[in-house]
Amino acid sequence: MTLNKYSQLYTQDDSLPAAQAMLIGAGLSEADLRKPFVGICSTGFEGNTCNMHLDGLAAEVKRGVQAQGLVGLRFNTIGVSDGITNGNDGMRFSLVSREIIADSIEAMAGAHRYDALACVVGCDKNMPGALMALARLNRPGLIVYGGTIRGGEYQGRQLNIVSCFEAYGQKVNGQISEEEYRGIIRNACPGPGACGGMYTANTMAAAIEALGMSVPFSSSAPAESAAKTQECLDAGRYLRRLLELDLKPRDILTRAAFENALVVVTALGGSTNAVLHLIAIADAAGVRLTMEDFQAVSNRVPVLADLKPSGKYLMEDLSRVGGVPAVLRTLLDYGLLDGSPLTVTGQTLADNLATVRPLGPEQDVLRALDRPLKPDGHIQVLYGNLAPRGAVAKISGQEGLRFTGPAIVFDSEAAVNEGIAARQIQAGQVVVIRYVGPKGGPGMPEMLKPTAALMGAGLGDKVALITDGRFSGGTHGFVVGHVCPEAYDGGPLALVENGDRIVLDAERNTIDVDISAEELAARRARWQRPPLPTYRGVLGKYIRAVSDASHGCITDSGETGVAGETVAELMYNGSSLVWPHGTPLGPAPSPSERGSRGVGEEVVRVGG
Ligand code: FES
Repeated sequence: MTLNKYSQLYTQDDSLPAAQAMLIGAGLSEADLRKPFVGICSTGFEGNTCNMHLDGLAAEVKRGVQAQGLVGLRFNTIGVSDGITNGNDGMRFSLVSREIIADSIEAMAGAHRYDALACVVGCDKNMPGALMALARLNRPGLIVYGGTIRGGEYQGRQLNIVSCFEAYGQKVNGQISEEEYRGIIRNACPGPGACGGMYTANTMAAAIEALGMSVPFSSSAPAESAAKTQECLDAGRYLRRLLELDLKPRDILTRAAFENALVVVTALGGSTNAVLHLIAIADAAGVRLTMEDFQAVSNRVPVLADLKPSGKYLMEDLSRVGGVPAVLRTLLDYGLLDGSPLTVTGQTLADNLATVRPLGPEQDVLRALDRPLKPDGHIQVLYGNLAPRGAVAKISGQEGLRFTGPAIVFDSEAAVNEGIAARQIQAGQVVVIRYVGPKGGPGMPEMLKPTAALMGAGLGDKVALITDGRFSGGTHGFVVGHVCPEAYDGGPLALVENGDRIVLDAERNTIDVDISAEELAARRARWQRPPLPTYRGVLGKYIRAVSDASHGCITDSGETGVAGETVAELMYNGSSLVWPHGTPLGPAPSPSERGSRGVGEEVVRVGG
């Protein structure tokens, strides 16, 4: 069969001599022009442990590809380090980078008509961005995960990246010295690899392996392991097979595959960011996946893995006892996974796991089904008068299932960080951080710095935190994010005042402010959107295009059409703001707001 069905358009057409001349100029032979082209995309760059080694891994992938008689053509796209941007305004670009990665891979592979793709990725937004591109393009392809980092150590204390944020809270609280603080920073990241707990990168890597879009062991093989290098070399063999079978991402990314991914994220106690990313990937693949699907899985699947942030172990520890394939095999044996979906090996998930040993009592990284860390899922979808379109709670169970307390309200992440430093936050309060949603942030920044600082200050189990922003996979505590609609859109979170009683219930799945409907309506009538800056450039485009968090924060409306409703139907319905089901929300925007959606005086171009 024809394996170069895309690239042959310009490599074999006599009327396109420029394309052939340029490829020969770039080092290809006449014989190479008749081979399939494999685009090998790396999100490698120097200034981040998650990405610093990816170009080297991409070079190994190219060796493996060439050995299979294919032409490997490397290119790069961007990455944004969540660790580096957390707690500063660089974080606004993090979720945005997922869209840029997806768009840029799509543009490169689309323009150059690569016949297959390998994406070598390594930080939070890299994996979902790359997989969204593979789903859009629907050409044979796979994900190669850059792997997890080694754990750090200082004065006998085990460290990872979140230790640094928590150490800050301990320093502010006078629990550690400046010297200890610097020592923790110097030793937390001992080499290449993605953040080591079951944070977002490792969560998404495991989810992608469960989806069947990376080869077995990709998500748990550490960055510096021989297994990771071998995986890169083997990628060529799998790509050749995918081309021969004409097995494409949408053949693999089925509804059953997504349900498997949700089960794995839940059993591993993974990041709430998986909600955004899996909804977005599903949308790109033409599969309808909703917040309710996450809740349905949470209702039937327990948390089994004792992994950080809430638990004890790192991904490298899971790798030592058998890795993600051993987890998948165990969950398959429990009847929690569907073994029938196809994977990038060309075989089904069950076929891949046939020779893998399930995890038993010889280890304690993954608990047995009858001895779970939490009997249901840690990701709970809440609704209520504070979140008519949903919110995502991360509940490990250690912090209880209900929290009621007076609100202390901050209108930005910077404000809450100042509040923590000034010791304004008291035990028993519900910390509200708002105007940090997809549009208000913009970019829905992660609130790792405040949550870690609260932990470090000894308030982690004494306060709850709710926000229209999101959380790092490293966050733990009683936290509710993705509150939807966001405050910028006039969601009820914008109406909360200091001292209001907030009631969070992860058993009844509710999030409410305990004030009357009349009082809420009166506040709604008075509400004015704060004078936020008007952004140009990539953030401006993002604000205009992004869907709400309950629909994955995507910037194109995919085949399911779920994103299209969010801006058009939520914001404007003649004279008033309404929800899609018709409930009035608040005053209508002015004509100028309607026209531009920019509301501030100042035009800001971030970064220059
Ligand atoms: Fe890259 Fe954490 S900053 S995985």
